[in-house]
Amino acid sequence: MADQETTRLDGKAVSAKVLDALKLRIESEKLSPHLHVISVGQDVASNVFIKQKRNAAEKIGVTFSQTSLPVEATLSDLRRAVLNQNKDPSVSGIIVQLPLPESLQSHEREVLNLVDPMKDVDCFHPKNFGQLALGQPVFKPATPAGILRLLEHYGVETRGKQCVVLGKSNIVGKPLGLLLAHEEGPAATVTLCDKYTENVWDLTRKADILVVAAGKHHLVHDPGVLRPDGKVTIIDVGIHRVQTAEGKTVVQGDVDSEAVKRHCRWLTPVPGGVGPMTVACLLEQVVEACALLTDPRNKVKHLFVENTLRTGGRLTRVGVCQLLVRLEPGFPVAELNSKLGEMDPESTGYVSLDDFLDWALAVRTN
Ligand code: GUN
Repeated sequence: MADQETTRLDGKAVSAKVLDALKLRIESEKLSPHLHVISVGQDVASNVFIKQKRNAAEKIGVTFSQTSLPVEATLSDLRRAVLNQNKDPSVSGIIVQLPLPESLQSHEREVLNLVDPMKDVDCFHPKNFGQLALGQPVFKPATPAGILRLLEHYGVETRGKQCVVLGKSNIVGKPLGLLLAHEEGPAATVTLCDKYTENVWDLTRKADILVVAAGKHHLVHDPGVLRPDGKVTIIDVGIHRVQTAEGKTVVQGDVDSEAVKRHCRWLTPVPGGVGPMTVACLLEQVVEACALLTDPRNKVKHLFVENTLRTGGRLTRVGVCQLLVRLEPGFPVAELNSKLGEMDPESTGYVSLDDFLDWALAVRTN
């Protein structure tokens, strides 16, 4: 059994770097990002998360606003709140804070589907989740994005590694599994586990990277469930407020860090690990959404990617014209079509993103 010093994956320090870079981006690109959070009721944990988002947003120049509905709000109140923010051109990103109160929980999917996909910074809309699953995400859900950023920052190897994720939620486990498995990216071999997984500890014992996102306080507490050579990287996504024997309230995770810290190579602390990375990466998505909504080049790019998923990033000439009409009704489509023909006499009938961007913007400025 290993007995070594573990290195902490310091989410607080890395998130500060992400936020600094975002602040610079907002200033240099003269962006006006605006995050709107819709909450229902007064869930104590949710209020803490919302406050963290607000504080970080305001520090870096992201406008923050909130619709706070009472716990007795109806589905139609909630729908109206979402549609109002979809319509508001000043809002770049919308979050419907989860969990919803019990009375609305059965409508969660319906409500999340109402959020404008271009403002869906949580990546909960089926369209965005689908693009993520295809390996072409427009938005990345904040917690998985934060975890990937941490691994990247510390140079934790993922390619070909055994990665075991405990927890299959739509917010963390599933999208994280997809992102980690992406072959042109981290290229990890991912095993997603839930409470039905048989012999789960045999799987964790083989893991190079173990992500614990099960929502169970100190689920992982026995070093015997980790690889015996002490080389595992543990990512703890849990956040639990618990009372100590002395009556103090402390925040702890799904992993008992005291019990395992001498048996792993890397470990995220709680607090100060995944939590701050989630906030920073969420704001990154808001800034990205703002850029997509305001910069014509980004909008063109977004539309192109969206429309070329099935053709591997290529577009037919007809497709180009259809896209441009969507961008700017009244576009001189016939003229454009003939120019496209001139541009590439050897044309196979397809146009690349670069050519498309040049065309779209040239025609725009003529
Ligand atoms: N509640 C806890 N985490 C999240 C999150 O990432 N997004 C939303 N919308 N609600 C949450």
